Amino acid sequence: MPTTVENAKERVLSGMRPTGRLHLGHYHGVLRNWVRLQHEHECFFFVADWHALTTHYEDVAGLGRHVWDMVIDWLAAGVDPGAATIFVQSRVPEHAELHLLLSMITPLGWLERVPSYKDQQAQLADRHLDTYGFLGYPLLQAADILIYRAGLVPVGEDQVAHVELTREVARRFNHLYGREPGFEEKAEAAIAKMGKKNARLYRELRRRYQEQGDAEALEVARALLEGQQNLTVGDRERLYGYLEGGWRVILPEPEALLTPTPKVPGLDGRKMSKSYGNTIALREPRDEVARKIRTMPTDPARVRRTDPGDPDKCPVWEWHQVYSDEATRAWVQEGCRSAGIGCLDCKRRIIDAVLAELEPLAARARQYEEDPDLVRAIVAEGCEKAREVARETMQEVRQAMGLAYR
Ligand code: TRP
Ligand code: SF4
Repeated sequence: MPTTVENAKERVLSGMRPTGRLHLGHYHGVLRNWVRLQHEHECFFFVADWHALTTHYEDVAGLGRHVWDMVIDWLAAGVDPGAATIFVQSRVPEHAELHLLLSMITPLGWLERVPSYKDQQAQLADRHLDTYGFLGYPLLQAADILIYRAGLVPVGEDQVAHVELTREVARRFNHLYGREPGFEEKAEAAIAKMGKKNARLYRELRRRYQEQGDAEALEVARALLEGQQNLTVGDRERLYGYLEGGWRVILPEPEALLTPTPKVPGLDGRKMSKSYGNTIALREPRDEVARKIRTMPTDPARVRRTDPGDPDKCPVWEWHQVYSDEATRAWVQEGCRSAGIGCLDCKRRIIDAVLAELEPLAARARQYEEDPDLVRAIVAEGCEKAREVARETMQEVRQAMGLAYR
């Protein structure tokens, strides 16, 4: 279930395939949300370069350029390397190891049933997508998420099924490997370590959840565990698991944090998308921004300046709904319907608004464009930080799967 309640303690993880330069649709649909989240949560944002290969394994020449272009756009948009961890998937090879290990326990049917599998295959019919890698796309994504034990995964509607699969895989993993002899005794011993008051509270919340299905009690109990300083990782996992059943939670189930669909339409009124060629890039040169908006289609009935128009039939009007205040919108409605304003006057306001919005992004982008080593250093540091967390999870996963023998 996607959630709307955000628990500040939860780690956030999200990724994007390196598609090259980003546009206003990405900015309003994804990046502004990331920028907000980075101040409220511990955030990990990464470039899913392996995921790019699942569909574009034949054209790899531009991959590196796309990665750096995209990272610069993130930074330009205000993703702050001081607040969030920015990294590249393929530089944290532990993702691949977890993907492999999860593949052992994932039934083929689960992957074949993910809606995007057949859809995408049909949509990209010109590519050969009956590959092992493409089928495993959502499982690699599950590994991306679970390796950081992320609680929240900001994604668009099209990715919710992948988070759902991630939850199923985590559940299966925990059922299979979270059982241990003497679980109950160990859990009880861990409860005792929390001190009298918290132990009593934990028991009460657990009872309320188990006997009455009180989901809020479950949330509160989890938050209580989060705050316990003197519990080992193992004990904490046990007590998470003990709330719901008889096993440890080694890989917690994440929740999708639905990002509302982007508000910015494309230049032609369709959804803004590179494949439609109707975008404004975040680092679009100023004169290009102006040119693109000036040449936008308008209400087709408004052929001459003296013909009245109907904003409801004009893509420019949709942009006013994003970029203009009440007064400007009234001015458009009035002026368009009475032929009091020309389409270029109308578009000028949008041009100014978009240029003003992109100005600070351009300023931030400049320092990174001029200093590619700075970008590389930011990503290298992010990869190190990410790897530390990933390594820790993998130790436990290996242990749980019987691989820590000597
Ligand atoms: N599949 C995602 C997309 O196309 C990208 C992605 C890969 C991702 N791994 C992820 C998103 C993990 C969130 C979490 O947008
Ligand atoms: Fe569109 Fe504005 Fe021209 Fe009306 S005046 S048709 S809303 S561009």
